[in-house]
Amino acid sequence: MTKVSIPRTFRVKSFGCQMNVYDGERMAELLGEQGMAAAEEGDDADLVVLNTCHIREKAAEKVYSDIGRLKREDGTSPLIAVAGCVAQAEGEEIMARAKDVRMVVGPQAYHRLPDMIDRASKGERVTDTDMPADAKFGALPARRKRAPSAFLTVQEGCDKFCTYCVVPYTRGAEISRPFADLIEEARRLVYQGAREITLLGQNVNAWDGEDAKGRKIGLDGLVRELAALPDLARIRYTTSHPNDMSDALIAAHGEVDKLMPYLHLPVQSGSDRVLAAMNRSHTAESYIRLIERVREARPDIAISGDFIVGFPGESEQDFADTLSIVDTIGYAAAFSFKYSPRPGTPAATMEDQITREVMDDRLQRLQAALTRDSHAFNRATVGRTCDVLVERTGRREGQWLGKTPWLQSAYFTGDHAVGDLVRVELMDANPNSLSARVLQLA
Ligand code: SAH
Ligand code: SF4
Ligand code: F3S
Repeated sequence: MTKVSIPRTFRVKSFGCQMNVYDGERMAELLGEQGMAAAEEGDDADLVVLNTCHIREKAAEKVYSDIGRLKREDGTSPLIAVAGCVAQAEGEEIMARAKDVRMVVGPQAYHRLPDMIDRASKGERVTDTDMPADAKFGALPARRKRAPSAFLTVQEGCDKFCTYCVVPYTRGAEISRPFADLIEEARRLVYQGAREITLLGQNVNAWDGEDAKGRKIGLDGLVRELAALPDLARIRYTTSHPNDMSDALIAAHGEVDKLMPYLHLPVQSGSDRVLAAMNRSHTAESYIRLIERVREARPDIAISGDFIVGFPGESEQDFADTLSIVDTIGYAAAFSFKYSPRPGTPAATMEDQITREVMDDRLQRLQAALTRDSHAFNRATVGRTCDVLVERTGRREGQWLGKTPWLQSAYFTGDHAVGDLVRVELMDANPNSLSARVLQLA
């Protein structure tokens, strides 16, 4: 056993979804509380936490090359912890394949990192991939994050079992964090400067709980309670499943001003045959109806989505149905992926796996359509007046960057500060951003 000294500096690198970003922040806060300091950009860290993603093969394989890259010129390595979804799914394999890894810690166990680090420093190799329901959050220190826009995980896990997806296995069953804890965390984030909070969950709209008076509430109720925090200006949530989009949540989009007009609602495919094979339990038609109702409640809402091309058995006609739903919805933004077979998921062993060439071709055609639509969306917002939340300085002198209500990046000049809400007119649409003219401080 090689003994190393207790680490003094750390770096947490997060990959994958926003929930990993959130977990990474909380790990950093936990390590900070232990007296460790975040290593400066470019500096060597004593401890490196790789907070990994298992969603597609490429993401998962990246871990091993990242571990290799951590080796220093003198042959030594920092203390390496692999966290996140690859840790959960392949903990043993990582320990066997990568001898430099000292700790493997799952997404539900990272509150125990201090003890693990202690043992790893004494030479042990430690794995903790337990999935205790709800133990983690109570054991973490209070939030320290200071930023105009903050993430807040309200729900974790997934019971949907889409046949292609690893998340139900890496993150476990759906659980909702208690209402009181969320209000407390939100208050603290706002006190520390957050003007915008994005509520996170693998199925965030499945969140439920009891409010302060013991009444059962859903995500809409939580949104309404948060909207009462005076200094909080904006609320967002992601990611939602179509089947958990309740009437009350749809109504909230029309009634709660602080709830931003943006909805990320993945459909994955436009073919009912493929949707059934994916176990999505919605149809193309029911999804389209749902979006229509959301748009009735909030006509200017921007819709974004996720798509998978090349799911096993996807025919050219199935793919044409996907292009057709894209045309029908008119997405403001979207993510699209080639199907990646994941170990242990039902789809991985289905017949009729699609060739790489076909997937490449379909992805290209789909992305062309999605890019066309996001440009069209941006162009359609030119001339609108809206508030932009200032997030950082731009590349040019005096330039600032911020987000519109529709989650577009907008840049403008003037005398502002991070966290300001600035009233602007949107002027020019570029592929990935808009220029804006400042009207007055909102
Ligand atoms: N819970 C969310 C997001 C899950 S992961 C939801 O259901 O929408 C984010 C996206 O990754 C999914 O929406 C899906 O489009 C994509 N994805 C998941 N598993 C995949 C796989 N095996 N291959 C390719 N894309 C996948
Ligand atoms: Fe994965 Fe489906 Fe759950 Fe989303 S809803 S996390 S795609 S199983
Ligand atoms: Fe990846 Fe896990 Fe998120 S697999 S997408 S980091 S839930």
